[in-house]
Amino acid sequence: MIDLSTQYLGLTLSNPLVPSSSPLTGNLEDAKRLEDAGAAAIVLPSLFEESVHFEQKQIDKYIYSQALGNYEAESFYPVPTDYKGELDNYLDHLHHLKSSLNIPVIASLNGISTSGWISFGKELMQAGADALELNVYYVAADPIQNGEEVENRYLELLTSLRQQINIPVTMKLSSQFSSVANMVTKLQSAGANGVVLFNRFYQPDIDLETLRIKPHLELSTANESLLRIRWIALIRSRVTLSLAATGGFHRIEDIIKALLAGADAVYLCSVLLDKGPEYCATLLQQLQNWLAEREYESVQQMQGSVCQSCALDPAAYEHSNYFDVIKSYRP
Ligand SMILES: Cc1cc2nc3c(=O)[nH]c(=O)nc-3n(C[C@H](O)[C@H](O)[C@H](O)COP(=O)(O)O)c2cc1C
Repeated sequence: MIDLSTQYLGLTLSNPLVPSSSPLTGNLEDAKRLEDAGAAAIVLPSLFEESVHFEQKQIDKYIYSQALGNYEAESFYPVPTDYKGELDNYLDHLHHLKSSLNIPVIASLNGISTSGWISFGKELMQAGADALELNVYYVAADPIQNGEEVENRYLELLTSLRQQINIPVTMKLSSQFSSVANMVTKLQSAGANGVVLFNRFYQPDIDLETLRIKPHLELSTANESLLRIRWIALIRSRVTLSLAATGGFHRIEDIIKALLAGADAVYLCSVLLDKGPEYCATLLQQLQNWLAEREYESVQQMQGSVCQSCALDPAAYEHSNYFDVIKSYRP
């Protein structure tokens, strides 16, 4: 039997396939199906600080800002003592998963204020999360803010959280940094146990009828995986923290490439939304077969063997083949 286990964020996972944040990990039934299909851990959908505050404001408005008789409103419409808000529901879900599953459960947080990141992060840790993923979805649109200031937001957040959180912490990053490799190194120094490369920025669309901006979410395609594979290969031998690949991993070939490049875990989302949780078992079987055909004894034996420093042609991961690539195109 081939050993598929991998080390990720200090956790021993039975294999490298981890369903990432999505509605699938947000309900118990699908999470159990994922575990049954061999998922090695799951990442919960993000808890959004913004959404918790919004909900609280709506309740306050309902109770205290009524047009009529607002002073007495609290007694007419008291908040039921068993009312559960978004945070409570998230923590309940985390508790249920922890008591129903045997695999590690990674909580995900999207904060807006330092105090929010810290207080919600502590709640998730206390509720039993095995690790905390920071979903920092920040679009740097302010022309006055320079690149260093943007990076410092991430680093300061991590430094503050690190002082309060004693479970492994990983950060989900976008690819939009001037120097991804430098940023990952700084995050490691600031205490990150891992990084997840790369978050997909969703591009808002313009509705041509109403001329309004409308949200637009499309599932990924397999083409997106090569960007992740390249950066994991470039970074692998320069850092010791865990590396997870996310974005475009639909086919076993791409998952294997990410592992060869040096990923400790490969996150799956679109493919499972598209094909169902059970597809995890198909991918695992394909991974077993690929390793067996090439006489590997374990995933760890092949992990990182085609990272930049191990590759036969290291420069090919950087720029040297740019010219060849352009010239190789035939109309
Ligand atoms: C419907 C949907 C909901 C998602 N929700 C979250 C979320 O709450 N937090 C998060 O960090 N990523 C979220 N993601 C991003 C995925 O976890 C994943 O990183 C991204 O889709 C790229 O992986 P993929 O190509 O396998 O889909 C979501 C993606 C989808 C499609």
